[in-house]
Amino acid sequence: MPAVPDFKALANPAIRTLAAYDPGHDIPSLRRRFADAGGLLELGSNENPFGPSPRVLAAIHAELAYLHRYPDPAGKALKQAIASKHGVGEQHIMLGNGSHELLMQLAQAFIGQNDEVLLSRYCFAVYPIAAKAVGAQLVFTDAFPADHDMPLGHDLDALAAAITPRTKLICFANPNNPTGTWFGSLQMIDFLTRVPPEVLVLVDEAYIEYVSDPALSSALDLRVRFPNLIVARTFSKAYGLAGLRVGYLVAEPSLLALLEPIRESFNVNGLGLVAAQAALADATHLQDVVTRTQEEREWLAAAVRSMGVQVLPSQTNFLLAHFGPETPAIENALFERGAIVRPMAGYGLGEYLRITVATRSENERLLAGLKAVIA
Ligand SMILES: Cc1ncc(COP(=O)(O)O)c(C=O)c1O
Repeated sequence: MPAVPDFKALANPAIRTLAAYDPGHDIPSLRRRFADAGGLLELGSNENPFGPSPRVLAAIHAELAYLHRYPDPAGKALKQAIASKHGVGEQHIMLGNGSHELLMQLAQAFIGQNDEVLLSRYCFAVYPIAAKAVGAQLVFTDAFPADHDMPLGHDLDALAAAITPRTKLICFANPNNPTGTWFGSLQMIDFLTRVPPEVLVLVDEAYIEYVSDPALSSALDLRVRFPNLIVARTFSKAYGLAGLRVGYLVAEPSLLALLEPIRESFNVNGLGLVAAQAALADATHLQDVVTRTQEEREWLAAAVRSMGVQVLPSQTNFLLAHFGPETPAIENALFERGAIVRPMAGYGLGEYLRITVATRSENERLLAGLKAVIA
């Protein structure tokens, strides 16, 4: 048997520094394990427990006749539907195999070895991965402290102050994952006026549909004033299509043109294209999901707080809760009862758990488990 080359030594140095995504649990096998015990309670990945519009299922059914064909590489019909929803031309839209893919492409297209990517401390984990993969220098600013009105939230003043001539890209989600925190549109405008026009700003709006605070609206309308702004959206959350992997960017056409050559030609699959289009067309279903999630979010937050646990304010479909030094034991005890929640040690928040807001009966099951475990 010939010696296996030292592939790590051969790899791109930036890639050598990365660790593979850790899914935490083998969900398919856990679904089987807990099938007869009330089912697995999947509260770890901020998915939508209400599922997609029934129109999605009909669209997928019709598309099954074309499984042996490649999908439309341009995704034209979906792009047109998204563009018309946002009142922009379709050349302002770029589709991705989830927004995750687009974040990687954005870094690949724009970031070089000596460029700085500016991030806030508790940002979504994909941003540092995308930046490190292209050899960027990561610069983190401190988030607000845990006793602030917006605990662990992004400090926009700190981000603006950390911009240097080497800053190429600033990324944040609003509202944010994993904290659930947010800032209002006026604060966003104030921040953007402090960013030089040649610095790209990615605003990730994966959870924007769940927002109830009138002070926060989408950054999409700000693109006219700030052409360096890129807005990322996904069909994985409120539209209930996490399994189909569809996301998009809204940005200047000349910026998106630079991502096109590195895009895999058929990056969004045929079922995903038709499903996303059908989901967009059903505003009533979306509103129903959003209303129910907002109600459950406030109900669950109040119930967990009544157990003496600090729960961060959230405008998303999940809650970040502080369980203290016993957190790993609590997570493990919930797991033994068939409830998956998200441990936060990888984010440097080992005393917190992130919990997806689910249906009332699922939330009640979680609460019963938590009560038993904490007692
Ligand atoms: C802030 C944020 N952005 C992007 C994503 C990824 O979304 P997608 O499923 O579109 O890749 C997530 C997923 O959890 C997220 O929390």
